[in-house]
Amino acid sequence: MYDLVIKGGMVVTSASPFPADIGINGETIAAIGQNLDGRQVLDATGKLVTPGAVDMHVHLQMPIGQFTSTDTFYSGTRAAAFGGTTTIVDFVETQPDETMAEAIAARRALADPNVVIDYGLHMTIGPGDMARLDQVPEAFAAGCTSFKLYMAYGLRLRDDELLKALTAVRNVSGIPVVHAENWDVITELIRQNLAAGRTSPHWHPRSRPALLEAEATGRVIDIASFVGVPLHIFHVSCGETVARIAQARQQGLPVTGETCPQYLCLTWDAYDAPGVDGTLPVCSPPIRDRTAQTALWQALSRNDLQIVTTDHCPFTYEEKATGLNNYSQIPGGVPSIEMRFAALYSQGVRQGWLSLSQWVAQCCTNPAKLMGLAKKGEITVGYDADLVIFDPDATKTLTPETLHETAGWTPYAGLTLQGWPQTTLSRGKIVVQDGEFVGGMGNGRFLHRTQANL
Ligand code: URP
Ligand code: ZN
Ligand code: ZN
Repeated sequence: MYDLVIKGGMVVTSASPFPADIGINGETIAAIGQNLDGRQVLDATGKLVTPGAVDMHVHLQMPIGQFTSTDTFYSGTRAAAFGGTTTIVDFVETQPDETMAEAIAARRALADPNVVIDYGLHMTIGPGDMARLDQVPEAFAAGCTSFKLYMAYGLRLRDDELLKALTAVRNVSGIPVVHAENWDVITELIRQNLAAGRTSPHWHPRSRPALLEAEATGRVIDIASFVGVPLHIFHVSCGETVARIAQARQQGLPVTGETCPQYLCLTWDAYDAPGVDGTLPVCSPPIRDRTAQTALWQALSRNDLQIVTTDHCPFTYEEKATGLNNYSQIPGGVPSIEMRFAALYSQGVRQGWLSLSQWVAQCCTNPAKLMGLAKKGEITVGYDADLVIFDPDATKTLTPETLHETAGWTPYAGLTLQGWPQTTLSRGKIVVQDGEFVGGMGNGRFLHRTQANL
């Protein structure tokens, strides 16, 4: 007799789908089999039972310039849970006078009392951290085993700094995760556009060419290969970048890549919407054309990209509007934290791009492995009972009202998804059931992660 049994569902692992009951004791998956008995039973007849999804790229209450991304550790993790995500990995940056350990403690003080699901943190290494690379082992020991390196924005690293940062990460057996774009080309194209009066969001993707995203990706792959460290490429937006990653992997290099729902479900026409609406989908790298979108679905289908994350980083309509007359000033980022898992089922599995197991591998298993989350992302005895009962027949039309994010808008407004989570469990406890939140603030835990294993 188990504490809880999920009965009669189609269990989907990264290896295969098969009919089975799942027995849970306390926080842990205790059995996978037939005719299991439980003190509490959840009927999953006609449903898919998947691991809780893992979103290893989110920015909750992230200060960027004069603004802070809208979702807090509470609202963001709550929205994630509604969408079947049970683990997120967010970011921490040091302040000029702070050690990495102090920055982690400060970020945890914000997150720990508020998260409703488990979470980890990537340690950011910016130019100001070059003098404290000796603290990288301390950050690793504190559970931040992945390190964010930017090749764009104010936090970007030059190639010599990339070399030093990648070496420091290699020395602790950490995993670097990189925003790869060519910042010098971008800033010059922005300068030329603004000087010519081309100030609307239409020019945002045209200032950030796909070819130069691929160039930056190839450059950091080469530096990482020289250093001898594995590498993960964040938010891949085009086939040109996929090609660099696929080529590296064919050569046997330990390089992985992710894409996000905004690149899979939207096209750059969104930037031509009138007025402020055209500013809303601004994110970097930018959303591109239909050819790029198709290339990304093909890449997921071929496993040339291994992971889907969200890069969830929304700002309000008013905040986005501040860049209406200068697209380079629009705070970048869109909300996707709630819709990712269902979107990949609806637009990926149902449209024939992905098998059920690829869906689970890319949204759950692979990110858990890459992030060193030893007990997450798979349905296996001994793993955390982070589980989703997913109704493949439910339909959901995405609007700000049907989602639980706080930006007040969604770039997917009007998109109807086929399939939606019915029940989300985090470590054996129901967090969301039939559209009701039954979890608790602070019930999530900070995850001390280990070495990447993908
Ligand atoms: O525009 C974006 N993607 N904002 C979030 C920060 C980042 O670059 O990942
Ligand atoms: Zn980025
Ligand atoms: Zn990001």
